[in-house]
Amino acid sequence: MFAKMEGLQAIKYKRGSLEVLDQLRLPHEFVYEDVTTCEEAFDCIRKMRVRGAPAIAIVAVLALAVELEQGKDEGKATSDTIAYINKRLDYLMGSRPTAVDLSNAIKHLKKLVQGHSSTDSAASIDSVRSKYVEGAEKILEDDYTTNLAIGRYGAEYLRAQQQPISTPEEKLDDLRYYTTSPPNTQGALDQTYRKLSILTHCNTGSLATSGHGTALGIIRSLHKMNYLDHAYCTETRPYNQGSRLTAFELVYEKIPSTLITDSMAGALFQRFKSSKNISAVIVGADRVARNGDTANKIGTYTLACLAKMHGIKFIVAAPTTSIDLETPHGASIKIEDRTGTELTQISGAAVDASGKVNVGETKRVAIAHQGIDVWNPSFDVTPFALIDAIITEKGEVTKNASGNFYFEPIMQEKW
Ligand code: MRU
Repeated sequence: MFAKMEGLQAIKYKRGSLEVLDQLRLPHEFVYEDVTTCEEAFDCIRKMRVRGAPAIAIVAVLALAVELEQGKDEGKATSDTIAYINKRLDYLMGSRPTAVDLSNAIKHLKKLVQGHSSTDSAASIDSVRSKYVEGAEKILEDDYTTNLAIGRYGAEYLRAQQQPISTPEEKLDDLRYYTTSPPNTQGALDQTYRKLSILTHCNTGSLATSGHGTALGIIRSLHKMNYLDHAYCTETRPYNQGSRLTAFELVYEKIPSTLITDSMAGALFQRFKSSKNISAVIVGADRVARNGDTANKIGTYTLACLAKMHGIKFIVAAPTTSIDLETPHGASIKIEDRTGTELTQISGAAVDASGKVNVGETKRVAIAHQGIDVWNPSFDVTPFALIDAIITEKGEVTKNASGNFYFEPIMQEKW
């Protein structure tokens, strides 16, 4: 029924059953948990066993699909089933506030079942359920094809920014360069390009989506196309999505990569921008406002400032479902504040003297005075002025002659 999803999977779904990879246990343990109710999905999202804007939306809407398959609505009339769907979706909406994908998916599914029952006079309870279940499954399916398109467009966009180099004498080592023949140009000489290196933040890969990923999807695509020299990933304090999840995905896929702490990005650009051809910082998005201001994982704004300072492109990779035309600018985006213990405590597995990780011995340890006051916003907003391009499944959006992003032409109803 579904397109073949390659590689890691955070979400395993078949009609009537939903399993979610517990990301709190990564990278040490690989455990899927059943999600059979909306309460379980809410808890899974709130506690960040699943996270990432697209994955949050997918798990929420599929959990309700599982409930409907099990007849949990106990509807005696179509209106009961529709009321149940609306109530459960409103409940799920409260799980995490910043990412817009969940609210877009919910609005779409409410409209879908409402529209179906009002246009089809013979609509039965089963047909309302089926309409919802098929609609939720389509969101899962579309996310994957969307990510493949983002990966391809992003890789092509970055590749097109590169200047060919004159064949570099003895430095030409196959690992750092690639050569292309310009298409349709008879007799033209091959051109040689340097491969590019990319820095990414947080986790936007298979673990944050149905598969492939957005920003990390572009890195995957660059690697597959042989254009990637090296990927750098930040640790992404305080939740460590970079060190726990992105590093895991990069190693899993054998992509040449290096982990740095968030505070090392400036030094990385100073020292290696030229020698490693660091061409872009690519991040995901939780919500892109109408003017292009983008909410994403805390630390994104700092990286955008650093990229500007060093003349490195700053790219947002986001499906059109993360663009919110109803929010005029970043100041209107609600930013989730999370508990202070995410800064003052950390979980980890014990490591013995030989460096061997003992997964059985995982514990939470204090790493700061437990009495200190803590501010822990989960996201920040990068002003559109610092963003060079937003790569969507419809292609790249860059600023127009007046220096503004304009999304309307790519924003037809998606599902
Ligand atoms: O708090 P998280 O881990 O859900 O935050 C995730 C991010 O900020 C991602 O960059 C964003 O959701 C895009 S995921 C494709």
